[in-house]
Amino acid sequence: MVEKHKKLVVGNWKMHMDLQQASVFVHHLDRATESKDDTEIVLCPPFTALQPITKEIDIHKFRLGAQNLHYQDEGAFTGEVSGPMLKNLVHYVIVGHSERRKYFNETDDVVARKMSAAIRNELRPILCVGENLYERQEQHTNRVIHDQLVTGLTMLTANEVAEIVVAYEPVWAVGSGDIAKPDQIKTALATIRKTIVELFGKNTAQKVRLLYGGSVTPDLVHDYFKLKDLDGFLIGGVSLNWQQFAEIIEITQAA
Ligand code: PGA
Repeated sequence: MVEKHKKLVVGNWKMHMDLQQASVFVHHLDRATESKDDTEIVLCPPFTALQPITKEIDIHKFRLGAQNLHYQDEGAFTGEVSGPMLKNLVHYVIVGHSERRKYFNETDDVVARKMSAAIRNELRPILCVGENLYERQEQHTNRVIHDQLVTGLTMLTANEVAEIVVAYEPVWAVGSGDIAKPDQIKTALATIRKTIVELFGKNTAQKVRLLYGGSVTPDLVHDYFKLKDLDGFLIGGVSLNWQQFAEIIEITQAA
């Protein structure tokens, strides 16, 4: 039996929203949502909006996350943002998103170092794993997820792993409108849980929260919550629409 977890709805804004848009968005979202103890709502705006938004949000209702971090704590890395810079600003940080892997050549080794940087700086990492279309067609999904976890978690201890969140995000479903079916998600979540059991033991594995991400819309959320191992969602496109995002939050809180 998996322990009862706090549910989690994470909005990844990607490279969208300037300060004014972000401010209007949080104003609307705040009015459209209620705070519930059993569900965390996490907003991941671009770096430029993080600091101003901390002053605008109700911190009892919303948490902030960063979309990325560097694996070093400081140094000559032009354009990068490090863990210590994020430490008192955000609770969460997304690590290994498929867009980072694809457009910025992030390998599993880099992901492992970023996971370690997040933990070292007391940030809760949301580790994204998932196969691309070719890998699914070739039936490599389970192996890909397994390998991404084995390398991605290699620098962490069992106690540290117990704190993390893993998001299953099939690359073919991210931003495409192609959604993974509940049974595909179920199989992937089982692989994630099983791999963490193998690596760190059952107690640790039961503590890890699991999300699904990839073209999530409000009408899908009901069905997905029938999956008992799912703790919530990582949402891209729809998280930019406050009405739809609020709808997903409401359904999650009621689930
Ligand atoms: P999407 O993005 O909801 O637009 O598919 C999900 C993500 O990138 O985390």
